Amino acid sequence: MTAAIIDGKAVAAELRGEVARGAADFAGRAERKAGLAVVLVGRDPASEVYVGSKVRMTRDVGMESFEHRLPAETTQADLLALIRRLNEDPAVDGILVQLPLPRHLDAGSVILSIDPAKDVDGLHPENAGRLANGLPGLAPCTPLGAMLLVARAVPNLSGLEAVVLGRSALVGKPVAQMLLSANATVVVAHSHTRALPDVCRRADVLIAAVGRPELVRGDWIKPGATVIDVGINRLAPEPGAAKGRLVGDVAFGEACAVAGAITPVPGGVGPMTIACLLRNTLDAARRRLS
Ligand code: GUN
Repeated sequence: MTAAIIDGKAVAAELRGEVARGAADFAGRAERKAGLAVVLVGRDPASEVYVGSKVRMTRDVGMESFEHRLPAETTQADLLALIRRLNEDPAVDGILVQLPLPRHLDAGSVILSIDPAKDVDGLHPENAGRLANGLPGLAPCTPLGAMLLVARAVPNLSGLEAVVLGRSALVGKPVAQMLLSANATVVVAHSHTRALPDVCRRADVLIAAVGRPELVRGDWIKPGATVIDVGINRLAPEPGAAKGRLVGDVAFGEACAVAGAITPVPGGVGPMTIACLLRNTLDAARRRLS
Protein backbone atom coordinates (compact mmCIF):
# COMPACT_ATOMS: atom_id res chain seq x y z
CA MET A 1 0.00 0.00 0.00
CA THR A 2 1.16 3.54 -0.66
CA ALA A 3 -0.46 6.02 1.66
CA ALA A 4 -2.47 8.97 0.38
CA ILE A 5 -0.67 12.17 1.36
CA ILE A 6 -2.90 14.60 3.25
CA ASP A 7 -1.87 18.03 1.95
CA GLY A 8 -1.98 20.35 4.97
CA LYS A 9 -0.80 23.33 2.93
CA ALA A 10 -3.77 23.02 0.57
CA VAL A 11 -6.31 22.43 3.38
CA ALA A 12 -4.90 25.41 5.31
CA ALA A 13 -5.16 27.65 2.23
CA GLU A 14 -8.82 26.59 1.82
CA LEU A 15 -9.51 27.36 5.48
CA ARG A 16 -7.84 30.79 5.24
CA GLY A 17 -10.07 31.49 2.24
CA GLU A 18 -13.16 30.65 4.34
CA VAL A 19 -11.87 32.84 7.19
CA ALA A 20 -11.24 35.72 4.76
CA ARG A 21 -14.85 35.55 3.56
CA GLY A 22 -16.07 35.43 7.17
CA ALA A 23 -13.79 38.32 8.15
CA ALA A 24 -15.19 40.49 5.33
CA ASP A 25 -18.73 39.69 6.44
CA PHE A 26 -17.80 40.50 10.07
CA ALA A 27 -16.21 43.82 9.08
CA GLY A 28 -19.39 44.79 7.21
CA ARG A 29 -21.63 44.02 10.20
CA ALA A 30 -19.37 45.31 13.02
CA GLU A 31 -18.05 48.34 11.10
CA ARG A 32 -14.53 47.33 12.16
CA LYS A 33 -12.15 44.50 11.34
CA ALA A 34 -11.70 41.55 13.68
CA GLY A 35 -8.41 42.03 15.55
CA LEU A 36 -5.67 39.72 16.82
CA ALA A 37 -3.01 40.90 19.27
CA VAL A 38 0.24 38.92 19.26
CA VAL A 39 2.70 39.36 22.11
CA LEU A 40 6.33 38.31 21.70
CA VAL A 41 8.77 38.67 24.61
CA GLY A 42 12.45 38.42 23.71
CA ARG A 43 14.18 37.43 20.48
CA ASP A 44 13.86 33.66 20.21
CA PRO A 45 14.58 33.11 16.47
CA ALA A 46 11.94 30.39 15.93
CA SER A 47 9.32 32.51 17.73
CA GLU A 48 10.24 35.54 15.58
CA VAL A 49 9.55 33.47 12.45
CA TYR A 50 6.20 32.16 13.82
CA VAL A 51 5.07 35.62 14.93
CA GLY A 52 6.07 37.13 11.57
CA SER A 53 3.91 34.53 9.77
CA LYS A 54 0.97 35.08 12.16
CA VAL A 55 1.05 38.85 11.60
CA ARG A 56 1.28 38.51 7.80
CA MET A 57 -1.51 35.94 7.51
CA THR A 58 -3.77 37.89 9.88
CA ARG A 59 -3.53 40.87 7.52
CA ASP A 60 -3.88 38.64 4.44
CA VAL A 61 -7.31 37.41 5.59
CA GLY A 62 -8.49 40.98 6.20
CA MET A 63 -8.12 41.16 9.97
CA GLU A 64 -6.33 43.74 12.09
CA SER A 65 -2.98 42.68 13.57
CA PHE A 66 -1.69 44.32 16.75
CA GLU A 67 1.94 43.42 17.33
CA HIS A 68 3.56 43.80 20.76
CA ARG A 69 7.27 43.01 20.75
CA LEU A 70 8.71 43.36 24.25
CA PRO A 71 12.33 43.15 25.40
CA ALA A 72 13.57 39.89 26.97
CA GLU A 73 13.96 41.69 30.34
CA THR A 74 10.23 42.56 30.53
CA THR A 75 8.91 41.98 34.06
CA GLN A 76 5.95 39.77 34.92
CA ALA A 77 4.10 42.87 36.17
CA ASP A 78 4.62 44.75 32.89
CA LEU A 79 3.49 41.74 30.82
CA LEU A 80 0.37 41.30 32.98
CA ALA A 81 -0.37 45.04 32.65
CA LEU A 82 -0.22 44.75 28.84
CA ILE A 83 -2.59 41.77 28.88
CA ARG A 84 -5.01 43.69 31.12
CA ARG A 85 -5.04 46.51 28.54
CA LEU A 86 -5.60 44.06 25.66
CA ASN A 87 -8.42 42.34 27.63
CA GLU A 88 -10.14 45.72 27.91
CA ASP A 89 -9.44 46.94 24.36
CA PRO A 90 -12.65 46.64 22.28
CA ALA A 91 -10.65 46.44 19.01
CA VAL A 92 -8.89 43.26 20.20
CA ASP A 93 -10.84 40.00 19.73
CA GLY A 94 -7.97 37.57 20.23
CA ILE A 95 -4.80 37.60 22.34
CA LEU A 96 -1.88 35.28 21.70
CA VAL A 97 1.24 35.27 23.88
CA GLN A 98 3.94 33.45 21.95
CA LEU A 99 5.53 30.60 23.93
CA PRO A 100 8.05 29.80 25.24
CA LEU A 101 8.45 32.88 27.42
CA PRO A 102 11.87 33.83 28.85
CA ARG A 103 12.61 31.72 31.94
CA HIS A 104 12.05 34.47 34.53
CA LEU A 105 8.39 34.78 33.45
CA ASP A 106 5.60 32.49 34.67
CA ALA A 107 3.67 31.33 31.58
CA GLY A 108 0.91 29.72 33.68
CA SER A 109 -0.13 32.95 35.37
CA VAL A 110 0.22 34.89 32.10
CA ILE A 111 -2.23 32.48 30.41
CA LEU A 112 -4.58 32.72 33.42
CA SER A 113 -4.65 36.51 33.04
CA ILE A 114 -6.01 36.37 29.46
CA ASP A 115 -9.78 36.90 29.14
CA PRO A 116 -11.03 33.38 28.21
CA ALA A 117 -13.28 34.96 25.54
CA LYS A 118 -10.12 36.31 23.83
CA ASP A 119 -7.93 33.23 24.45
CA VAL A 120 -7.56 32.22 20.79
CA ASP A 121 -4.76 29.78 21.73
CA GLY A 122 -7.32 27.83 23.79
CA LEU A 123 -4.84 27.42 26.64
CA HIS A 124 -6.75 29.10 29.50
CA PRO A 125 -7.97 26.46 32.02
CA GLU A 126 -11.54 27.66 31.45
CA ASN A 127 -11.28 26.80 27.76
CA ALA A 128 -9.49 23.50 28.52
CA GLY A 129 -12.36 22.64 30.89
CA ARG A 130 -14.95 23.62 28.29
CA LEU A 131 -13.27 21.34 25.73
CA ALA A 132 -13.15 18.47 28.25
CA ASN A 133 -16.86 18.93 29.00
CA GLY A 134 -18.00 19.35 25.40
CA LEU A 135 -19.03 22.98 25.97
CA PRO A 136 -18.52 25.74 23.38
CA GLY A 137 -15.27 27.65 23.84
CA LEU A 138 -11.95 28.29 22.15
CA ALA A 139 -9.86 25.17 21.47
CA PRO A 140 -6.09 24.98 20.87
CA CYS A 141 -5.06 25.53 17.25
CA THR A 142 -2.68 22.64 16.52
CA PRO A 143 -5.13 19.95 17.75
CA LEU A 144 -7.94 21.64 15.80
CA GLY A 145 -5.76 21.56 12.69
CA ALA A 146 -4.86 17.91 13.27
CA MET A 147 -8.57 17.01 13.59
CA LEU A 148 -9.45 18.84 10.35
CA LEU A 149 -6.79 16.75 8.58
CA VAL A 150 -8.08 13.51 10.19
CA ALA A 151 -11.52 14.40 8.82
CA ARG A 152 -10.13 14.50 5.27
CA ALA A 153 -9.19 10.81 5.50
CA VAL A 154 -11.76 9.56 8.05
CA PRO A 155 -15.04 11.51 7.97
CA ASN A 156 -16.61 9.37 10.72
CA LEU A 157 -14.50 8.38 13.73
CA SER A 158 -17.31 6.66 15.61
CA GLY A 159 -16.10 3.42 17.19
CA LEU A 160 -12.60 3.62 15.69
CA GLU A 161 -9.50 3.20 17.84
CA ALA A 162 -7.37 6.34 18.09
CA VAL A 163 -3.96 6.42 19.73
CA VAL A 164 -2.42 9.75 20.73
CA LEU A 165 1.32 9.64 21.33
CA GLY A 166 2.10 12.45 23.79
CA ARG A 167 0.17 14.10 26.63
CA SER A 168 1.10 17.79 26.43
CA ALA A 169 -1.39 20.51 27.33
CA LEU A 170 -0.77 22.12 23.91
CA VAL A 171 -1.48 19.03 21.76
CA GLY A 172 -1.82 15.54 23.28
CA LYS A 173 -4.49 16.18 25.91
CA PRO A 174 -6.73 18.46 23.81
CA VAL A 175 -6.55 16.26 20.69
CA ALA A 176 -7.52 13.26 22.87
CA GLN A 177 -10.59 15.20 24.08
CA MET A 178 -11.53 16.07 20.50
CA LEU A 179 -11.22 12.44 19.36
CA LEU A 180 -13.34 11.36 22.33
CA SER A 181 -16.00 13.94 21.44
CA ALA A 182 -16.02 12.44 17.94
CA ASN A 183 -16.83 9.03 19.51
CA ALA A 184 -13.44 7.39 18.92
CA THR A 185 -12.03 4.96 21.49
CA VAL A 186 -8.96 6.86 22.66
CA VAL A 187 -5.67 5.72 24.18
CA VAL A 188 -3.13 8.34 25.26
CA ALA A 189 0.39 6.86 25.21
CA HIS A 190 3.48 8.58 26.64
CA SER A 191 7.06 8.02 27.77
CA HIS A 192 5.98 5.57 30.52
CA THR A 193 3.74 3.48 28.25
CA ARG A 194 4.82 -0.16 28.01
CA ALA A 195 4.93 -1.99 24.66
CA LEU A 196 4.51 1.26 22.74
CA PRO A 197 4.75 -0.34 19.25
CA ASP A 198 1.95 -2.78 20.16
CA VAL A 199 -0.24 0.05 21.47
CA CYS A 200 0.33 2.07 18.28
CA ARG A 201 -0.44 -0.93 16.06
CA ARG A 202 -4.03 -0.95 17.38
CA ALA A 203 -4.67 2.52 16.03
CA ASP A 204 -7.03 3.18 13.14
CA VAL A 205 -5.95 6.79 13.68
CA LEU A 206 -2.49 7.51 15.08
CA ILE A 207 -1.60 11.04 16.21
CA ALA A 208 2.11 11.46 16.97
CA ALA A 209 2.97 14.50 19.10
CA VAL A 210 6.03 13.71 21.19
CA GLY A 211 8.85 15.68 19.54
CA ARG A 212 11.07 12.61 19.00
CA PRO A 213 12.43 12.46 15.43
CA GLU A 214 11.15 9.42 13.49
CA LEU A 215 10.22 7.53 16.67
CA VAL A 216 7.26 5.78 15.01
CA ARG A 217 8.49 3.08 12.62
CA GLY A 218 6.64 1.49 9.74
CA ASP A 219 5.96 -1.71 11.71
CA TRP A 220 4.23 0.29 14.50
CA ILE A 221 1.43 1.16 12.10
CA LYS A 222 -1.72 -0.83 11.38
CA PRO A 223 -2.11 -1.39 7.61
CA GLY A 224 -4.45 1.23 6.19
CA ALA A 225 -4.33 3.48 9.30
CA THR A 226 -4.48 7.28 9.15
CA VAL A 227 -1.29 8.82 10.56
CA ILE A 228 -1.15 12.46 11.65
CA ASP A 229 2.38 13.63 12.42
CA VAL A 230 2.44 16.71 14.65
CA GLY A 231 6.20 16.57 15.32
CA ILE A 232 8.61 19.03 13.73
CA ASN A 233 12.20 18.08 14.53
CA ARG A 234 15.38 19.36 12.94
CA LEU A 235 18.05 16.69 12.50
CA ALA A 236 21.79 17.45 12.83
CA PRO A 237 23.16 18.78 9.52
CA GLU A 238 24.68 16.29 7.10
CA PRO A 239 28.36 16.95 6.33
CA GLY A 240 28.62 20.07 4.17
CA ALA A 241 25.02 21.20 4.82
CA ALA A 242 24.26 24.39 6.77
CA LYS A 243 21.02 23.07 8.27
CA GLY A 244 19.69 19.64 9.17
CA ARG A 245 16.55 18.17 7.58
CA LEU A 246 13.11 18.71 9.16
CA VAL A 247 11.45 15.43 10.09
CA GLY A 248 8.35 14.47 12.03
CA ASP A 249 7.82 11.98 14.85
CA VAL A 250 7.07 9.32 12.21
CA ALA A 251 9.59 7.63 9.86
CA PHE A 252 7.75 8.93 6.79
CA GLY A 253 9.12 6.59 4.09
CA GLU A 254 8.45 3.44 6.13
CA ALA A 255 5.04 4.68 7.23
CA CYS A 256 3.96 5.47 3.66
CA ALA A 257 4.35 1.81 2.75
CA VAL A 258 1.85 0.75 5.47
CA ALA A 259 -0.55 3.61 6.26
CA GLY A 260 -3.72 4.43 4.33
CA ALA A 261 -3.21 8.18 4.67
CA ILE A 262 -0.47 10.30 6.23
CA THR A 263 0.50 13.94 6.77
CA PRO A 264 3.97 15.00 5.59
CA VAL A 265 6.47 17.10 7.57
CA PRO A 266 6.74 19.87 6.59
CA GLY A 267 3.45 20.66 4.85
CA GLY A 268 1.06 18.70 7.07
CA VAL A 269 -0.19 19.88 10.46
CA GLY A 270 2.19 22.89 10.59
CA PRO A 271 0.32 25.14 8.12
CA MET A 272 -3.00 24.27 9.80
CA THR A 273 -2.02 25.85 13.14
CA ILE A 274 -2.05 29.47 11.94
CA ALA A 275 -5.17 28.90 9.79
CA CYS A 276 -6.98 27.62 12.92
CA LEU A 277 -5.69 30.58 14.94
CA LEU A 278 -7.31 32.89 12.38
CA ARG A 279 -10.53 30.88 12.54
CA ASN A 280 -10.53 31.08 16.35
CA THR A 281 -10.03 34.86 16.14
CA LEU A 282 -13.00 35.18 13.79
CA ASP A 283 -15.11 32.95 16.10
CA ALA A 284 -14.11 35.07 19.13
CA ALA A 285 -14.98 38.27 17.25
CA ARG A 286 -18.38 36.93 16.17
CA ARG A 287 -19.23 35.86 19.74
CA ARG A 288 -18.28 39.29 21.08
CA LEU A 289 -20.56 40.91 18.50
CA SER A 290 -23.60 38.78 19.29
N1 GUN B 1 4.77 28.31 20.42
C1 GUN B 1 4.76 27.20 19.64
N2 GUN B 1 3.50 26.87 19.31
C2 GUN B 1 2.68 27.77 19.90
C3 GUN B 1 1.27 27.96 19.91
O1 GUN B 1 0.49 27.22 19.33
N3 GUN B 1 0.83 29.02 20.63
C4 GUN B 1 1.68 29.84 21.30
N4 GUN B 1 1.15 30.85 21.99
N5 GUN B 1 2.99 29.70 21.30
C5 GUN B 1 3.48 28.67 20.60
